[in-house]
Amino acid sequence: MGKKSIEIAGAGVDGTIAMLKKAYGGELSAFHYFWYISQNIEGLGVLESKFFEARADEELGHSKKVAFRLMQLGETPIDDPAQWEQVSGLGKLQPSRFLTLRSALERALEFERLVIGLYNDLANSTKDKDHGTYQLALELLNAELEDEQDIEDILAKLEIR
Ligand SMILES: [Fe+2]
Repeated sequence: MGKKSIEIAGAGVDGTIAMLKKAYGGELSAFHYFWYISQNIEGLGVLESKFFEARADEELGHSKKVAFRLMQLGETPIDDPAQWEQVSGLGKLQPSRFLTLRSALERALEFERLVIGLYNDLANSTKDKDHGTYQLALELLNAELEDEQDIEDILAKLEIR
């Protein structure tokens, strides 16, 4: 727990913590989605399995950063995997239903955009107040924006319907 971190986060700290918990659940849900897809994708999607594996690694890395910030703010991340999908606001991602390349990417795009919205909200609410969280929100926002662009690019070039 970072005493100064909490002091700086100020009156809005509860809202910040709620958003970080949401992000933690979202990142781990996304991690598992991409990991599952990388291992089980079918058809020509097999050729992109490394792309999904790299996304899984990336989301896991994001979850660690979010957890670290939560701990600085005196909170422990949610330890119950069953709660991650509820808290995240993403719902059940159900990767086994999206095992073709197009469907896997389209589903990923849906939840990536929700996470982008979340980090944008987190950046807005911490700007000029809690620079530690603000910087993290920007870093993760930019990473997710890059993912959105990459996924859109693959989809745009895909010949398979
Ligand atoms: Fe992420």
